[in-house]
Amino acid sequence: LPGKAIFSGIQPTGVFHLGNFLGAIKSWVDLSRSAPENSPILFMIADLHAITVARSPEKLRKQRWEALASIIASGIDPKRCTVYFQSDVPAHAQLHWILSSISSMGYLNRMVQWKSKANLDESASLTNSDLTNLNLALFSYPTLQAADVLIHQAGYVPVGEDQSQHLELTRHLAQAFNFRFGETFTIPATVLSPHKKILSLRDSTKKMSKSDPDQTSCVYVTDTAEEIKTKLKRALTDSVQGEITWDPEQRPAVANLLSIAAGLQDMEAPDFLAKHPMKNHKELKDTVADCLIESLSPIREEYNRLVSDQAYLESLANHGRDIAHERTSGTLEKAYRAVGY
Ligand code: ADP
Ligand code: NA
Repeated sequence: LPGKAIFSGIQPTGVFHLGNFLGAIKSWVDLSRSAPENSPILFMIADLHAITVARSPEKLRKQRWEALASIIASGIDPKRCTVYFQSDVPAHAQLHWILSSISSMGYLNRMVQWKSKANLDESASLTNSDLTNLNLALFSYPTLQAADVLIHQAGYVPVGEDQSQHLELTRHLAQAFNFRFGETFTIPATVLSPHKKILSLRDSTKKMSKSDPDQTSCVYVTDTAEEIKTKLKRALTDSVQGEITWDPEQRPAVANLLSIAAGLQDMEAPDFLAKHPMKNHKELKDTVADCLIESLSPIREEYNRLVSDQAYLESLANHGRDIAHERTSGTLEKAYRAVGY
């Protein structure tokens, strides 16, 4: 790992839930603590990506700061890591334009995530009415994501499984650019989060998501002990009586609860179960609730402290902006010169 930058980003969608925390932020925290001292570490709040799906300005304004507070409260050390807002660093949008000139519409059309955000079938071909309702930014945000990574010459990009297709596009664009215009960009490696996809507490065919209308399906990192207990009481298990076993195929809801508790303690679920054998569903729910309360209480307290100190958050954001600006201007200049400016 030495030397090369570690970079990742997350959209400001409000306070994080367990899926965001275990699937993304916790692996940032772990990686930032184990990275060599000379590796720059940057985390970006993707507020340009945030407008690819319609959102009110008031909501975006609020959610940007909630995201910053959530990231710091989750354990990202602002002394070691640079945290900044994407919209504060124009080089992202500038490199996006350059890269869009070598992004094939056909390749972008094979990306699956924007289709799910637009509620389109992955394999469907687009009708005229689909095209009327689609905005250009949603279609091209994988290219913006490539610009985000490449502008930092990032060597390592920690992401969840759902982002690995976009990282492939990023490598493809870096190689295509380097081939056509000369060596400019580092080819980044994907660092997949070791944590499993976290499922809804109320329906194990769905992932935990803040857009789920049943809000008891989702635990937020700022939930109080009472809220956590209530949600765990309502959590789905299964009809198997007696001892708790690890069986993700046959017992997905039980396995999800075990994965949550184990993930919070940096353990594999079977090892967690071996250490804490449980006689029934009630014991499982109590154990998982205790783990959640223990892990999330400090995050909740720190979050509440941070959101009431806007001056501090602003000073962090300004500092992050300055460092990110300084670290990206050389690469932007190099890319501009390469294409002929
Ligand atoms: P949501 O589904 O709540 O809208 P986002 O799409 O904003 O969440 O997710 C941000 C990041 O958090 C994603 O890149 C993904 O890696 C991670 N993530 C979101 N939900 C989950 C989940 N249920 N399990 C694991 N990781 C998740
Ligand atoms: Na989502």
